[in-house]
Amino acid sequence: MKYDNNLPLWHYNYCLILFCEKLKFNKQKIIFYDIIHKKGRERMTISEKHILETLKVLERMGAFLVAGNNPPNIMTLGWGAIGYIWNKPVIITPVRYTRYTYDLIEKHHEFVISVPQKDLSDSLLRCNQITGRTADKFKELHLHPTRAKIVDTYIVADCGLHLECKVLYKGGMEGFSLIDQKIKDQFYESKNYHTMFFSEIVAAYTTI
Ligand SMILES: Cc1cc2nc3c(=O)[nH]c(=O)nc-3n(C[C@H](O)[C@H](O)[C@H](O)COP(=O)(O)O)c2cc1C
Repeated sequence: MKYDNNLPLWHYNYCLILFCEKLKFNKQKIIFYDIIHKKGRERMTISEKHILETLKVLERMGAFLVAGNNPPNIMTLGWGAIGYIWNKPVIITPVRYTRYTYDLIEKHHEFVISVPQKDLSDSLLRCNQITGRTADKFKELHLHPTRAKIVDTYIVADCGLHLECKVLYKGGMEGFSLIDQKIKDQFYESKNYHTMFFSEIVAAYTTI
């Protein structure tokens, strides 16, 4: 299974940072972080279990990032980091600016990460081979969109765990700021840099 620069999947799939130690410190805050549903007082708490499960699946298989709504688009996501910034649970997702998904996140400033709870590796791989610019990937991959609870996009109903995210900050990578030459050579030879989206996890829940 290959991705950009012909790197093996295990290489590509490394999570950027596991903030485990930090999470332990902020465990109370993260576990009891309450989100009030806009339609009522439903609690959709992000727990340590959600966080660890998301990071584990990202590393092993990848997850779906859903953005946009007319129609929604899905992208395979392999990297991410979860931590606690600005007194909020935050996920950092690197998206290359050439992706159609990048345009959708820039437009809407919100998205969902749907984490498979069964083996969807074929769909994840196929999802990487086509772009939402020319295809409706939900249809192509026979995946099922269901409305997200808070953000104005969809979840992949075939997955069991979902993180709804609102972008707080973005940082575009600059070649001259990249200190590690090996990373530069390995991932950015073509200068197709990532933008790091720092997003608040406004809801985390399971559906299956
Ligand atoms: C396992 C795997 C992980 C991936 N992770 C990322 C990622 O973290 N960021 C990114 O920009 N692209 C990533 N990709 C590539 C995109 O999923 C791929 O380019 C996709 O076709 C983009 O779709 P779009 O043009 O509809 O946005 C990954 C691909 C695979 C196979």
